[in-house]
Amino acid sequence: MKKDVVTILDNASGRQIELPVKHPTQGPAVVDIGRFYRELGYFTYDPGFLSTASCQSSITYIDGEQGILQYRGYPIEQLAKQSHFLEVTYLMLNGELPGCQQLDDFNGVITHHSMLNESLKSFFRGFYHDAHPMAIMVGVVGSLSAFYNDSTDITDPRHREIAAHRMIAKMPSIAAASYKHTIGEPQVYPDNNLSYTGNLLKMMFSVPCEEYHVDPVAEKALDLIFILHIDHEQNASTSTVRLAGSSQANPFACIASGIAALWGPAHGGANEAVLNMLAEIGDVTRIPEFIARAKDKNDPFRLMGFGHRVYKNYDPRAKIIREMCHEVLARLGDENDPMFELAIRLEEIALSDDYFVERKLYPNVDFYSGLIYKALGIPTNMFTVMFAIARTVGWVAQWMEMIGEENQRIGRPRQLYVGARQRDYAPVDKR
Ligand code: CMC
Repeated sequence: MKKDVVTILDNASGRQIELPVKHPTQGPAVVDIGRFYRELGYFTYDPGFLSTASCQSSITYIDGEQGILQYRGYPIEQLAKQSHFLEVTYLMLNGELPGCQQLDDFNGVITHHSMLNESLKSFFRGFYHDAHPMAIMVGVVGSLSAFYNDSTDITDPRHREIAAHRMIAKMPSIAAASYKHTIGEPQVYPDNNLSYTGNLLKMMFSVPCEEYHVDPVAEKALDLIFILHIDHEQNASTSTVRLAGSSQANPFACIASGIAALWGPAHGGANEAVLNMLAEIGDVTRIPEFIARAKDKNDPFRLMGFGHRVYKNYDPRAKIIREMCHEVLARLGDENDPMFELAIRLEEIALSDDYFVERKLYPNVDFYSGLIYKALGIPTNMFTVMFAIARTVGWVAQWMEMIGEENQRIGRPRQLYVGARQRDYAPVDKR
């Protein structure tokens, strides 16, 4: 029989309370501690949220021990093999896969929202030429808040939907424009005849004076990588979007906060860091030196693209990307790319090392994605931007789910205060 309460006995006061247990459709049950402070006078303490479910959600499910990832119940392997980015996007926003007409309509809506307001161009020009494209993304996406006053009533589901469509449709245009700015080329307008990823490739790599043909292998590879990056439940950037959104903030500003959180090397910035690390290692003979550094607690170096807070098994996304790497490199890049060989060898050596085995540190999604981006000709500083484009779908879906909840409340964590006790102010000449 299911046990539906957890009993807590406070030895200090002798008081005992029963906390309700909530049962999920899959995964571990959750103890509802909402009454904990009111009834026992304690806060709970969980830095890094190791044991804390911050919300209820029906979007993405992860089983970290088994290496399982599902979007709306569908295994990532099936979606990666049989679906495509915009179909999965529809699924994430609406909860169900679309029928033919719904998919056509959705494709049309996203395609027809991809242009940027002409005034936005002056924002790009304001950035210095060597600005990191993620810095430009944070600024420009946040500035969208100033453009769409017709869709900022977040209490209106239709407004929320329009904002969501705009965000997803415009992200590739903003990303490509950020890149063009850093290389001094003119921005390229979106092409409504192309797919989501085909259009992104064209906006990034075409120039007005030459014809450009989208390579179908590159288009398909990018589409697959984008599916894999769409959502990952309550990760750092998604939690940031939810927390910002919980104050009823403008949705574009909330997504900008997600982009900022994603940028760090412990999160989405890891794909860029992996390639930089492989370049630094340079040669197979130097792998042991870097493995030793990763294990040395006095050295801040970590093996980038390894380890995950939730996965204690091979990241299912990394498995899919690893297989795809062979195919893409064979057709677009160089299958004998020394960096690819280096990555494979590094993985082999790390996975047979006790340090990594004991800590269950496996390659994560970022370990191989950078190699594919490299083969597609995408520069290293754009890797995390690619992640941000795809993850926008997850951020938007999670934001919509949260705002649509009955009794939605502002997120407001408490703390374990360890600062000075009350003391009296002394004028500066008396200190
Ligand atoms: N290299 C060397 N040691 C590691 C690594 C690594 N990449 N990752 C974890 N460890 C060690 C860590 O030192 C600790 O050892 P000990 O128990 O002796 O103190 C143990 O493994 C547990 O690590 P943790 O730091 O407590 O784990 P966490 O859940 O707080 O951090 C992580 C997860 C992903 C931030 C971390 O594994 C990491 O920094 N990895 C490298 C960066 C990376 O690849 N990030 C991408 C994550 S996947 C995509 C995404 O989320 O955006």
